[in-house]
Amino acid sequence: MLLTALRLADFRNYPALDFAPAPGLNVFVGPNAQGKSNLLEAIAMLAIGKSFRARRESELIRDGTQLAEIAGTAQVPAGEIFLRASIARSGNGARKTFDVNGSAVGFARFLGRARVVTFVPADLQLVAGGPALRRTFLNGALAQLSPAYYRDLARYGKIVQQKAALLRGAIAPDRELLLAYNEELLTPGAGLIAARAAFVADIAAAADGVYERWTGTRERVAITYAPNVGAPDADPRAALEAALANNLDAELRRKTTLVGPHRDDLRLTIDGRPLDAFGSQGQQRTAVLALKVAEYETMRSRAGDAPILLLDDVLSELDAERAGGFLAAVGTFEQAFLTTTDLPARFDDAARFRISAATIAAC
Ligand SMILES: Nc1ncnc2c1ncn2[C@@H]1O[C@H](COP(=O)(O)OP(=O)(O)O)[C@@H](O)[C@H]1O
Ligand SMILES: [Mg+2]
Repeated sequence: MLLTALRLADFRNYPALDFAPAPGLNVFVGPNAQGKSNLLEAIAMLAIGKSFRARRESELIRDGTQLAEIAGTAQVPAGEIFLRASIARSGNGARKTFDVNGSAVGFARFLGRARVVTFVPADLQLVAGGPALRRTFLNGALAQLSPAYYRDLARYGKIVQQKAALLRGAIAPDRELLLAYNEELLTPGAGLIAARAAFVADIAAAADGVYERWTGTRERVAITYAPNVGAPDADPRAALEAALANNLDAELRRKTTLVGPHRDDLRLTIDGRPLDAFGSQGQQRTAVLALKVAEYETMRSRAGDAPILLLDDVLSELDAERAGGFLAAVGTFEQAFLTTTDLPARFDDAARFRISAATIAAC
């Protein structure tokens, strides 16, 4: 897909912007704090309906104003779509509204109309960091690909939160209510497990090829799904039901939820040994890049249409060889947006723009 027009009003440091991106690679260069990451954040909003970095969505509204708007036109195989997200100040927080082709829609129907793969410096921790990062990685891709996945994720998350609050409570939890929550977790929980297992099988196959092409070594990097509950061939619903029943007393004793897909992880190994403990930093970084390329390829093949690639300041964190390998691997992307503080010579063919104080000019 291609983003052909982007319009911002009072988004972050942009009072107003009207921008026509090019197909292929768009490179944004400029010193710090000019609005490069903000621009990528705005593009991502059109796909995922939320910020990839803000803690509070009211931060997205330009200081001193009340309403931020992001509007974009995207070319997809079915034609052209027009997407708009607005964020309005509301009390201490913010309220978002969305529309597609001029009709108001809820978040769930907005999500995934456009699709992005984002790559930010924090992603470099994907291998060495904690499991929450890897769950976010899975959720980010799957929620854009499948409305059913997003519904399961939202439903599961809500019930698990209620259950956790019940377990944490000062008074002994109502066992009946706890059982009712466990029952309600089964359908969305099993949906998450099944979707993640299938998706990880796809990215594992894609990442394996990428890693081998890059390193030319015979070391094997393997990615597998490490579900908290269930084995590869087990029925996820039955496995989850059994695990919840078996852990009921322990959860009551420990006053917290102990089992379920909210504790899932990915297992990454190099020649059979955990990559976080046994891989060099170089091997870990290469594996992260391979994961991102695999995410891109899997999203493209599943959706039948390439996602938009957003690379925020990551190339400067990589040595020239890895950066080159990464760009070559996604070389057939339809459209990418890349930010950088200095412009390397290899971007001669790209559409290049300078961002200075929230204004964009070709350079
Ligand atoms: N809600 C906001 N209103 C006004 N300015 C903002 C808002 N949020 C962030 N900014 C400003 O945006 C700038 C940072 O933009 P960013 O895109 O992160 O920079 P960079 O070009 O380094 O990626 C900072 O100057 C920050 O103060
Ligand atoms: Mg930045």
